[in-house]
Amino acid sequence: MLIRRETPADAEAVRAVHTAAFQNDPPVEARLVDELRLDTGWIPALSLVAIENDEVVGHVVCTRGRVSPHRALGLGPLGVRPDRQQAGVGSALMHAVIGAADALDEPVIVLLGHPDYYPRFGFRPAAELGITPPDPDWLPAFQARTLSAYDPSIRGEFRYAEPFRRL
Ligand SMILES: CC(C)(COP(=O)(O)OP(=O)(O)OC[C@H]1O[C@@H](n2cnc3c(N)ncnc32)[C@H](O)[C@@H]1OP(=O)(O)O)[C@@H](O)C(=O)NCCC(=O)NCCS
Repeated sequence: MLIRRETPADAEAVRAVHTAAFQNDPPVEARLVDELRLDTGWIPALSLVAIENDEVVGHVVCTRGRVSPHRALGLGPLGVRPDRQQAGVGSALMHAVIGAADALDEPVIVLLGHPDYYPRFGFRPAAELGITPPDPDWLPAFQARTLSAYDPSIRGEFRYAEPFRRL
């Protein structure tokens, strides 16, 4: 498996991965990625694909969010093609995007995700850091991962990039 940055040629395959992974009709996550790509919060270095046999089998993206006035990242969606799940692809994407975000001196990554999956990557309830979700119903799935540039003064409500807020 190879993890690399998304290129323009990957967009259709990325859409297909999320449509298959989430199995939502309409494909909310696939459309979200398309909208994020057009948003000012898009960070090309943090949209990663997993490649097997020259095919995109997984995708993850972090986009610009804020814990005002501080920068923060929102992670998601993360999706792996159903026939390639449970084989380490999601973990490889998570480790790669966390490392890339750290190298960019981002202080913290925030996400809404399953509390059984993300702690293995260093995520913990965001509330423990004083970072609160826009919707209180998101607890305890609302999690955060601090990075090297983290500063404990980063506290308050997290705001996702605009396309998330239109969901
Ligand atoms: C969640 C997902 C990205 C994981 O990717 P993956 O490549 O299958 O994961 P890995 O092979 O790296 O890791 C497998 C582990 O994740 C766990 N896992 C997978 N999906 C999970 C979920 N929804 N909730 C909790 N744990 C989950 C598995 O139980 C397994 O745990 P184990 O290692 O203790 O046995 C993938 O299953 C997927 O695309 N699911 C559909 C879309 C989705 O739910 N995305 C995440 C939104 S929060």
